[in-house]
Amino acid sequence: MPITDQFKDNKSLALTKRLIPWTICVLLPMALIHSFFYPLPFSPSPKTDLPHSTNNNITYRSSLSASPPSSAEKGKTKETKCDYCNGEWVSDSGSPLYNDTTCGTIKEGRNCITHGRPESGYLHWRWKPTQCNLPRFEPQTFLQHIKNKHVAFVGDSMARNQLESLLCMLATASTPNLVYNHKTGKDNQFSRWHFPSHNASVSLYWSPFLVHGVEKSSTNPNNNLYLDHVDERWANDMDQMDLIVLSFGHWLLLPAVYHEGDSVLGCHYCPGLNHTEIGFYIVLRKALRTTLNSIIERRGDKGNGIDVIVTTFSPHHFEGEWDKAGACPKTKPYRNAEKQLEGMDAEMRKIEIEEVEYAKAKAKRRLRLEALDVTKLALLRPDGHPGPYMNPFPFVNGNAGSVQNDCVHWCLPGPIDTWNEILLEMMKKWEKQSRNED
Ligand SMILES: *[C@@H]1O[C@H](CO)[C@@H](O)[C@H](O)[C@H]1NC(C)=O
Ligand SMILES: *[C@@H]1O[C@H](CO)[C@@H](O)[C@H](O)[C@H]1NC(C)=O
Ligand SMILES: *[C@@H]1O[C@H](CO)[C@@H](O)[C@H](O)[C@H]1NC(C)=O
Ligand SMILES: *[C@@H]1O[C@H](CO)[C@@H](O)[C@H](O)[C@H]1NC(C)=O
Repeated sequence: MPITDQFKDNKSLALTKRLIPWTICVLLPMALIHSFFYPLPFSPSPKTDLPHSTNNNITYRSSLSASPPSSAEKGKTKETKCDYCNGEWVSDSGSPLYNDTTCGTIKEGRNCITHGRPESGYLHWRWKPTQCNLPRFEPQTFLQHIKNKHVAFVGDSMARNQLESLLCMLATASTPNLVYNHKTGKDNQFSRWHFPSHNASVSLYWSPFLVHGVEKSSTNPNNNLYLDHVDERWANDMDQMDLIVLSFGHWLLLPAVYHEGDSVLGCHYCPGLNHTEIGFYIVLRKALRTTLNSIIERRGDKGNGIDVIVTTFSPHHFEGEWDKAGACPKTKPYRNAEKQLEGMDAEMRKIEIEEVEYAKAKAKRRLRLEALDVTKLALLRPDGHPGPYMNPFPFVNGNAGSVQNDCVHWCLPGPIDTWNEILLEMMKKWEKQSRNED
């Protein structure tokens, strides 16, 4: 199993053992610290509409079939362009494709129904892009698209959240086998599932910075990031990947020292160290550029080509303190006009979109690259997080006044299923373009 090679001689893996509790215990309060106490010099986005990008200006084929259309069908398919990132969550009486009994891959903390979340209204909303309809996820069609292929999700726990959603939806059509698993603590960090029905593989690579990073430890209070070196724990396997979904960003809010070349570029939140504070926007940009550059260099004109999706930043919805009841109490989505994309969320998204565009301009023929621009639709779903239901039955012994909340990740099933519906539309668009080129 070649995937195991990457773990040999990897000292940093030993450190990761300590880091999983971090995701919950430090990431969440840090998100608060940064948004409330550590304002960065961004200018709020104008109160107009979301800045437009052409990234999600996707061809929508209205007649969808489980198999690719025949050439006879091709001619008469009506096409409309659709921008999937602008729209509205509309109420929908339908039910999610799956529940906790239909798939065994949901991480504990995302399993809101099993953990006793009492209201289920959050399950009955559908994303309605302004210009078109987003088709319900079709597991068979997705599996057709990844037949004989390997899809890798690379990034932090948001990448894992999206992967688990996808696996649960695909599992309604075909049962995957877990063929590789490297577990640290309670969490899968490097895992691979295989769908024998389609010889398709879906895998997870834990890499919260995408570039090489040494995560903090008892002897070092900061993360150390090496911004000009891609993280080889995933990049080593790049040759075997056909589609890479990158999703990261939240870990950049944590204290860190940033290295470039042989020198320290600066740091973020490192009192006591004599480094220049440079914030994390420039770090997001550099880390993504290094990552996309390395994919272009290694795979841009080799083999059967590679597809790359960058899932944009997904906002948190903390309204109160993270360890008190009611941290993210909303039970309904926002209306589109109710909530502007601004501040850090807007800035993170903008940088990611810009870097995707920058890389696209350089990309060679065999590399396809798009942003999966979910920031706005995620922003509108304050109701979709586990909140206190990250733990089972948090109020069963009465409310002790102190309860942990997760207002960052998404319940499964939940809004994040929509990310994968859009991903499927992007894959259909690519498929259609490549047929037209033939
Ligand atoms: C989407 O593409 C169409 C046709 O290519 C173009 O007219 C339209 O302005 C684009 N929309 C956005 C939001 O870029
Ligand atoms: C979960 O889904 C299965 C079938 O997929 C269904 O039989 C069962 O009733 C569902 N459970 C709940 C609690 O909805
Ligand atoms: C199965 O899929 C892998 C990619 O994940 C591919 O390398 C291999 O050739 C496929 N096998 C067959 C028989 O097509
Ligand atoms: C901090 O760095 C500056 C510039 O590199 C240097 O002049 C100064 O002496 C350093 N201060 C300490 C306390 O190390």
